[in-house]
Amino acid sequence: VSAEVVGEVAPAIGAADLEPRWVRVRWEDGRVSRYHHLWLRDNCPQLRHPATGHRTVDTAQIPADCRPTAVEVVGGDDLRVTWASDGHVSTYPASWLAANDYSNGVRNARPVPVLWDAADIDVIPRASYPRLTADDAVRRRFLTGFVRYGLGLLSDVPCMPGTVLEVAARFGEVRTTSWGKVFDVRSVVDANSIAYTNLPLATHTDEGYRDPAPTVQLQHVLRADARGGDSTLVDGFRLAADLRHEHPEAFRLLATTVVRFRFVDAATELECDAPVIDCFPDGELRAIRFSNHSATPFLLDFDEMEPYYAAYRLFGDMRESPRYRLRIAMEPGELYMVDNRRVLHGRTGFSAGGARHLQSCYIERDELVSRLAVLARAEVEDI
Ligand SMILES: [Fe+2]
Repeated sequence: VSAEVVGEVAPAIGAADLEPRWVRVRWEDGRVSRYHHLWLRDNCPQLRHPATGHRTVDTAQIPADCRPTAVEVVGGDDLRVTWASDGHVSTYPASWLAANDYSNGVRNARPVPVLWDAADIDVIPRASYPRLTADDAVRRRFLTGFVRYGLGLLSDVPCMPGTVLEVAARFGEVRTTSWGKVFDVRSVVDANSIAYTNLPLATHTDEGYRDPAPTVQLQHVLRADARGGDSTLVDGFRLAADLRHEHPEAFRLLATTVVRFRFVDAATELECDAPVIDCFPDGELRAIRFSNHSATPFLLDFDEMEPYYAAYRLFGDMRESPRYRLRIAMEPGELYMVDNRRVLHGRTGFSAGGARHLQSCYIERDELVSRLAVLARAEVEDI
């Protein structure tokens, strides 16, 4: 049950009773909810900052035995509580109590990702960049799709070096790393990364050796007249979900074994310890970190090594299989944006003869989601 779903209905309170450690609310539809005294005092709406909703009391300083002297229902809409310690009066709207009815299972709901595989190429969010810049509704639809699928494709992006930074700035703040703000990907000799050669590049998440890893990558195609060099994209959450279903023990190993990712060159020494599949404590997927080229030697219990390799290779095979892996021949002026915590990207090999030039940069997903939420808010206000 999500807070938003319950919050849409505004039931009326029939009665409120003071119990020794909680307040019992009886709704007019017959349901009963319970709210602990400490929880009510801690979440008093009058002790919140009016603009941000942030708590203005220190939870740790509220007496653990705080209790009301009286509770009453005001007009069927509000619960009014008078506190024994200081006579403070708190007023809780019925809709707020219903939206936070933890005694009946209300929890903070996370957006549910829509999983995809290679057959779903048509559902991937797409937009024309000039239209997106001119129309907030187009931008909102594109970002909503991005949050849902972890992927978005833009077309008609001007083929000028540096434009990827302009595009990125529409969705978030560009993250500067030791690569700089923007990095060029093209065929060069004596490259210090496999990304700068013409070899195929198996699907991976970027910068697995950073902690935190960048959460959104944008990649803009400026030139693509070499043969081959198609972009490959895989929904890592789909891989993980299918692995969990079909090979639960392999999933468990990838989700519970911490491995190390590392990058070293003359000026840099980066390291991160993390599992390949990262889950919230309740089991929901949080992030995929699959950076085979930067993984250091696995150092596990002797008896775990073979099962871990079996699980790792299973996941590694799945990610490159045609069932899961989208393959897109990106044209100059096209740009993809991937959720780097979820979607793996790579490319097929290309001929060294032609020119191929991409520019990439990173932004952070929380900022993107915030901008989408503010856009959606403006739309509600327009109605
Ligand atoms: Fe990459």
